[in-house]
Amino acid sequence: MSDNVILEVQNVTKRFGGLVAVNDVSFKLHNVEILGLIGSNGAGKTTLFNMIAGAYPPTEGKIIFKGREIQGMRSDNVCHLGIGRTYQICQPFGAMTVRHNVMVGAFSRYKKRSEAAEKANEVLEKVGLYYRADALGSELTLPELKRMEVARALATEPEVLLLDEVIAGLNPTEVDIFVDLIREVKEREKLTIIIIEHVMRAIMNLSDRIVVLNQGIKISEGLPAEVAADPLVIESYLGGGQ
Ligand SMILES: Nc1ncnc2c1ncn2[C@@H]1O[C@H](COP(=O)(O)OP(=O)(O)OP(=O)(O)O)[C@@H](O)[C@H]1O
Ligand SMILES: [Mg+2]
Repeated sequence: MSDNVILEVQNVTKRFGGLVAVNDVSFKLHNVEILGLIGSNGAGKTTLFNMIAGAYPPTEGKIIFKGREIQGMRSDNVCHLGIGRTYQICQPFGAMTVRHNVMVGAFSRYKKRSEAAEKANEVLEKVGLYYRADALGSELTLPELKRMEVARALATEPEVLLLDEVIAGLNPTEVDIFVDLIREVKEREKLTIIIIEHVMRAIMNLSDRIVVLNQGIKISEGLPAEVAADPLVIESYLGGGQ
């Protein structure tokens, strides 16, 4: 593995009964790049994240993080190794404050309450949500919830961050603000990111490279402009009338 590769997905397949959700997918993630992961609904994007993050093991294939095989490892161990994630369906603890929600992430690194609270404050500041630290999770607007979700993942101090549709549902102005936020955090923290997103303007803008899935199969990979011009991608996703 070259020095520059931080994560490698090798021939990964996931079957749910008769359904092949992810089919022999391989790609490499380079240090401090943003890799966009796109594809139609049901393409297998979230399933791929779940396997990388240890929610469940692949049926076949390897996932290698910094030279070490992590497929099948428990999610808390994967998190501790340095892979953080957000969830497509935000599930805030509505009755807890924003700070406490983020502390849940911080507790993966800090056992002391005071230290976890300090970490939570720090990342809330970074994502521009510190002013809501004492609000309840249930009181947040959608853009605020998305920021909290990112803060919660950042509080686990990842080297690789998996973002699952953190931009979906935002209006165009909020999309632009969020794109800037992701780029800023990435530069400041020297983070490597895989981002799943249907909002094309955001993905084209943010990604250094893009991988395209269709029905579990990787159908394209390359620079944003290359992928956007790939006839297979246009047919199956971009121009597919979905
Ligand atoms: N736990 C599961 N059990 C059975 N089938 C599943 C499970 N999780 C996902 N699937 C199926 O696997 C396929 C891929 O789903 P996945 O959620 O990975 O798609 P996705 O690319 O994230 O789609 P979306 O853009 O809608 O979020 C779908 O057909 C889905 O119904
Ligand atoms: Mg998904």
